[in-house]
Amino acid sequence: MTDIVLNIDGKEVKAKAGMTVLEAAQQAGIYIPTLCHHEKLEAFGGCRLCMVEVESRGWTSYVVSCLYPVAKDIVVRTRSPKVDNIRKVLIEELLAHAPDAPELVKMAEEYGSDRNRFAREASFCVLCGLCVRYCDEVKQKNAVSFFDNGSVRQIAFVPEVAKKECWECQECFALCPTSYAQAAYLLTEALAFPGQRKTPAKSAKDLALKSRMIPITPVAM
Ligand code: SF4
Ligand code: FES
Repeated sequence: MTDIVLNIDGKEVKAKAGMTVLEAAQQAGIYIPTLCHHEKLEAFGGCRLCMVEVESRGWTSYVVSCLYPVAKDIVVRTRSPKVDNIRKVLIEELLAHAPDAPELVKMAEEYGSDRNRFAREASFCVLCGLCVRYCDEVKQKNAVSFFDNGSVRQIAFVPEVAKKECWECQECFALCPTSYAQAAYLLTEALAFPGQRKTPAKSAKDLALKSRMIPITPVAM
């Protein structure tokens, strides 16, 4: 397949047709912040933090780099005053939902985001969809899904499936940037099937190794 040559941050980058700007940048070692992107999953375009400035045929536009395909001779800027400002505000909006999410706090420092700019609506989920998409596309279990739309959109575990599948898996917990996936699972278990997991619990230490957040105390079976 013919290489497409584009320019990213002043560097000539070769990419294959069909690649996204994000993939081309990552391949060239150029960093673009992401939150909802995962290399094993279909692009989602949810967080918009990977927004970049693209100049093509004299026009400048702002595009989501995890969805935008590479094209010949485009000029991409991963940072510019406008890009930085867009990211700053996006981070502020996300922080209103998950004020202590480590990745967001770190990005807030980088972009000068005000953690208190927007009124807090601490849902603790930023709807990045990583848990939902991973469970669907990689695990093919659909134990966690989106429910509702608009401002009431949320993720929730499906008790009948979660009861059988989740305790031995927990792979989505480590993907979640806010730790809400783990909390949502534990809440579902406590409310819908307390003490009825289908598989024996591993030690709390083993489980803590799989998760990047709090160790879980196994519930007595
Ligand atoms: S629970 Fe976590 S991984 Fe799932 S959509 Fe919410 S923030 Fe993303
Ligand atoms: S990483 Fe591109 S929109 Fe989230």
